[in-house]
Amino acid sequence: MIDALRAGGERALVLGQGSNVVLPERLDQPVVLAAWRGLRLRVRGDEALLTCAAGENWHGVVRYSLGQGWAGLENLALIPGSAGAAPIQNIGAYGVELSERVVEVRVFDRAEKRVRTLDAEACGFGYRDSLFKADSARYAVLSLTLRLARRLAMRLDYPDVGLELQRQGVTKPTPRQVAEAVIRIRRRKLPDPRHWGNAGSFFKNPIIDPGQAKRLAQGEPGLVAHPVVGGVKLAAAQLIDRCGWKGRRRGYVGVWHRQPLVLVNFGTGSGPDFLALGEQVRRSVRERFGVDLELEPSVLSRE
Ligand code: EPU
Repeated sequence: MIDALRAGGERALVLGQGSNVVLPERLDQPVVLAAWRGLRLRVRGDEALLTCAAGENWHGVVRYSLGQGWAGLENLALIPGSAGAAPIQNIGAYGVELSERVVEVRVFDRAEKRVRTLDAEACGFGYRDSLFKADSARYAVLSLTLRLARRLAMRLDYPDVGLELQRQGVTKPTPRQVAEAVIRIRRRKLPDPRHWGNAGSFFKNPIIDPGQAKRLAQGEPGLVAHPVVGGVKLAAAQLIDRCGWKGRRRGYVGVWHRQPLVLVNFGTGSGPDFLALGEQVRRSVRERFGVDLELEPSVLSRE
């Protein structure tokens, strides 16, 4: 992969499985696909370190870890994309973010032209954010090492997960049962990218200041609002839903009827079509709530 990066030159674009990018209609630069495979598990008593090459499929990594009897990745089951992309977005779902499990990430630093190993702190992780996303032309992820445990307090606080387990009559779930519950929820709510092209959540959940959240709550009863570092996090899905976008289409692209945070390709929609629809959604949310939605996927532009 490093040879490919060197051969591709500075303009080369590194792609994993393309599940979280919005592409322009044409790309004129070389593309390096991060397809390097391999998993290595090192057991240290009740803990294990799992190193995954960037080209591994993320859900495959989750399944492998659970199959070997290790806990830690169950809430992150069925997220599309490659393992190498996971730290770039700092993928997160059902109360867990990847950053909580990361020990280190190996990258090729294209500015310094050398391989570097960054510990979790140096990766600059934030909500759907990292150093690698902030400076995407500079870093190509080669592999990542995750910390897993034999026994781990299950994270079941996310309402959907608790409800799903209850529905199955499970009171003390194993990591595998949590993963199965997450898979069922995702299958129910989210469009399968193999059939309906999509980049997952098209917007981030906005974090606004507590004063604005209080004012908003007065005029908009029932708004979801979670206190987080730096303010109050709202549910973008709910804001979009209240603007009436659920299930609406513009040509070949549209808003998913079960989770309006996801924009879907129903035919031959292009990257620019997605961006145009995204802009309309943002405008209505801004007009009704005074809240600016930020795009979640990486938007690639033609050079
Ligand atoms: N909601 C509505 N209407 C809807 C759907 C949701 O009002 O049609 C409200 C509900 O009140 C619900 C809230 O929105 O409580 C949150 O919805 P959900 O639990 O589906 O999660 P989300 O905040 O919309 C985030 C992530 C997803 C992740 C889920 C589960 C972001 C941008 N998205 O969505 O991640 O799977 O939580 O943890 O943080 C992704 O990043 O691509 C992604 C799919």
